[in-house]
Amino acid sequence: MDHQLELAYLVVEVPEPESLTPVFGDVVGLVAGEPTPAGASTWRDDDRVHRLILQSGAANDAVAIGFEATDPSAFDATVTRLQASGFDVAEVDADAAERRVDRLARTKSPWGTNVEIVLGLAAAASPFSSPLVPGGFLTDGVGFGHAVFATTAFDASVEFLTAGLGFNQSDWLEMELAPGIDLEVRFFHCNARHHTVALARAPFDLPQVLHHVMFEMNERDDVGDAFDRLWSTELGIPNGLGRHDNDGMFSFYLQTPAGFQVEVGHGARVVTDDWDDNRRYDAISAWGHQPLRQA
Ligand SMILES: [Fe+2]
Repeated sequence: MDHQLELAYLVVEVPEPESLTPVFGDVVGLVAGEPTPAGASTWRDDDRVHRLILQSGAANDAVAIGFEATDPSAFDATVTRLQASGFDVAEVDADAAERRVDRLARTKSPWGTNVEIVLGLAAAASPFSSPLVPGGFLTDGVGFGHAVFATTAFDASVEFLTAGLGFNQSDWLEMELAPGIDLEVRFFHCNARHHTVALARAPFDLPQVLHHVMFEMNERDDVGDAFDRLWSTELGIPNGLGRHDNDGMFSFYLQTPAGFQVEVGHGARVVTDDWDDNRRYDAISAWGHQPLRQA
């Protein structure tokens, strides 16, 4: 699919980044990357130098999300589109080294997370190989995964993603979770991945805007093995194995000690140039995804 952006990295700030090693290293099977120049720890799910950046601090939330432009003209077009849509965006080359990119432009999303448009995310010094995930992760042409944010600034966030960043809506979910409690989630793509960002309408400000980050494995059995590793821990399991109704992803969710969740999945639908299935769903899952274990 012809596209301009891929999910480059997610920056999460937590008081104790090492507290997440059992999650990302031991359960999900990511591979530790080199620390950044400023000393943040990093994780990889492919040949890039880092995909998840864990910096030490009080925010306890995602603080930045990076989108990699596929070439210099895509970088310029994205910056121009943001400016034309009324969003302040500034090229901050001084921060490019910390993110291991050639160019970096930064704006702030309405949901509160910094958004960084980058060019040239560096390759890692070594090829990717995870002993726990022999089939590897699906990232080629689609970026490292997806992220879901919950926000009270829902309509402004949709406008930012579509008019500003040029994402397109794949479909949406609207359902009554419980009597009087409605759920609305909109799913947006910027390449063939069904959604790179999804937005949930929050009824009030939540302690974290990051609901979850997702890593997609190439092999279904690798998801099963990861679930077995999770089962042998004490980590919370907000959703056991199941299959989403809209993107068709076979996945499970774990709860990190920091609060936000991680989805591990396989086999999601792929968006094509002639995508014409932008419609409402009224169920999160076709089957499964039962709440299994409180932390
Ligand atoms: Fe997800």
